[in-house]
Amino acid sequence: MSGGGARRVVVLKGGRSLERQVSLASGARVQDALERLGHEVHGLDVGHDLVARLRELAPDAAFIALHGSDGENGTIQELLEILGIPYTGSGISACVRCSDKILAKHAMVDAGLPTPDFLSFNETAFKELGAAEALPAVEERLGFPLVVKPSDQGSALGIKFAAAATDVPAALVAAFSYSEKVVLEQYVKGRDLAVSILDGRALPVVEAVPDDGEFYDFTSRYTIGRTQFVCPAALDDATTARAQELALAVHDLLGCRHFSRVDLMCDAVTGELTVLEVNVIPGMTETSLLPMAADAVGIDFDALVGKMLELALAAP
Ligand SMILES: Nc1ncnc2c1ncn2[C@@H]1O[C@H](COP(=O)(O)OP(=O)(O)O)[C@@H](O)[C@H]1O
Ligand SMILES: [Mg+2]
Repeated sequence: MSGGGARRVVVLKGGRSLERQVSLASGARVQDALERLGHEVHGLDVGHDLVARLRELAPDAAFIALHGSDGENGTIQELLEILGIPYTGSGISACVRCSDKILAKHAMVDAGLPTPDFLSFNETAFKELGAAEALPAVEERLGFPLVVKPSDQGSALGIKFAAAATDVPAALVAAFSYSEKVVLEQYVKGRDLAVSILDGRALPVVEAVPDDGEFYDFTSRYTIGRTQFVCPAALDDATTARAQELALAVHDLLGCRHFSRVDLMCDAVTGELTVLEVNVIPGMTETSLLPMAADAVGIDFDALVGKMLELALAAP
């Protein structure tokens, strides 16, 4: 049992997001760790009775193990603030910024931090303003292949790579089925990196190397054996340092608190690093990258969970 004594902690998990199963897996692991740390733990599958259950339990803190929509976009954080319950991870404003790839990417561009070139469209632009007419100009600027992604999803859901102009309409339809806003982004051929931040410190870089050499999707991400994770990633010292600096800069820029995971690409030809996105609620499953990176510096899963809770309890 680490300092501070036993606390009553609610672990928020599940919910109605598309990443429900991942969240249940993260939540179960977190609950086990909190129990081993000696806390009084209540798992809560988030639904209509959320506020009533939180009032009833009156926990000392909420550990947010929700992924996708409500957990990451500030909705749950708003409720917890209203109820006066301390919670793990970033506050409302950072959640709002990070869960919207368009907002986050504009903030990076405005601050001079590298992110792949992009354009964004609202569904209404296509339905009511004839945006399809502008696609050739978009394609000319971004080149092929290009990446089409919903602005506010995670875990590679709804992401499509368009190899040619004929692939773009179907990719857009797929992305619009997840979100009203879509990002068209320049494709970066290179290495898939993640840098987790914990308590103001950038952890070792993790590289995701898909077995089939291509795209790291929802299935491969949560299936052990489909993707190899290398931690620390085999990068030269200068690239490692730059990736860590950049991740910290973006974490701060977007107003994140306590921890986050920053996804980056390293261009295969130029070695240039660009930031794809920041995840305010990184996965805590067996294959998740924040626990892996923490472990690489001697912070095991229980210690990591303990630290996340301690930061929540100490937050102003
Ligand atoms: N511009 C891009 N170029 C190359 N690969 C990309 C690009 N954008 C996304 N990807 C691939 O898709 C994965 C998921 O993209 P990301 O933007 O992190 O969205 P999310 O994780 O929220 O689904 C990345 O880890 C990367 O493998
Ligand atoms: Mg990502």
